Amino acid sequence: MSNAQNLPDYTLLERLSQAYGPSGAEKGISEKIAAVIQPYCDSLTQDKLGNLIAIRKGSGKKIMIATHMDEIGVMITHIDENGFLRFTTVGGVHVAELPHRRVQFQNGRTGIISMEKLDKPSDLKLSRLYLDIGAANQEEAEQIVQIGDSAVFTGELVHSGSRILSKALDNRVGCFVAIEALKRVQTEHELSFAFTVQEEVGLRGAQTAAFALDPDVAIAVDVTLTGDTPKAHPMEVKLGNGVAIKVFDHSMITPPQIKQWMTTTAEKYKIPYQFEVLEFGGTDSGAIHLTKGGIPAGVLSIPTRYVHSPSEMIDSKDVEAAVNLLVALLEGPINL
Ligand code: CO
Ligand code: ZN
Repeated sequence: MSNAQNLPDYTLLERLSQAYGPSGAEKGISEKIAAVIQPYCDSLTQDKLGNLIAIRKGSGKKIMIATHMDEIGVMITHIDENGFLRFTTVGGVHVAELPHRRVQFQNGRTGIISMEKLDKPSDLKLSRLYLDIGAANQEEAEQIVQIGDSAVFTGELVHSGSRILSKALDNRVGCFVAIEALKRVQTEHELSFAFTVQEEVGLRGAQTAAFALDPDVAIAVDVTLTGDTPKAHPMEVKLGNGVAIKVFDHSMITPPQIKQWMTTTAEKYKIPYQFEVLEFGGTDSGAIHLTKGGIPAGVLSIPTRYVHSPSEMIDSKDVEAAVNLLVALLEGPINL
């Protein structure tokens, strides 16, 4: 393993997390990632769906590393005569948590979500919420935004001890881990890093990327939930206890040989890890492993509290463990 002791550049994580990139409108984040990784790959292309594909040539196994770059958000459905907007959700957004959250459009315009006067808390539904972008009337609003424009939640990146809080750590931290690994890795294997689109609306970009790349094995990097907060749903994953090796989620069951490969590699290099059994959701490997005749795929997960909130929380020790394990996997012998 080369340069395993290097610390990741967290200013890059900050830039990635703050970039705009809701599902279906990933151009901004894609351009930022492309500018950073250009010097480290042999080819860099964008496919027809918008996935960013970086290839590092090699003569060994063909390994695909998938990290989704899209984030959740809201999309405008209607603009009323007073300039207030109605919207729908893009990806897994909890409606009950929306009132008085700030959102930002691609053009930089900020708005706030609020609600009609409600008689009882159970009246809080998407149809009763609106978005106020500060427009005086419909005409003014229509000069700023259009039907179908998306906005993302705002939330600056802050460090709190070893923890890091920000919007969109799902999954900019996954992109960050992949980029840090790409910078350090030295291997005979052929690596294809796919920064995928539209994961939050159904693992869509990963599906076409995996078909085109047809790898021998794939590793997705994404966030996962934890069970370590007061009266949380029982789950063994804890913040700060290391990178999580996925065993199960609702999109896939990890093949035993992949779990074995990841576990023995973590043991060999003394990288802290934990097993993840996630009872909700899925990620890119769910689509990848069902591609063509089947592709062996696993997932390295970053334990994350408050996923899909403006203050998702991770621990830098887990990020470092994820980078170290990914580099070790990509550099090591692969006998699957
Ligand atoms: Co997500
Ligand atoms: Zn994700």
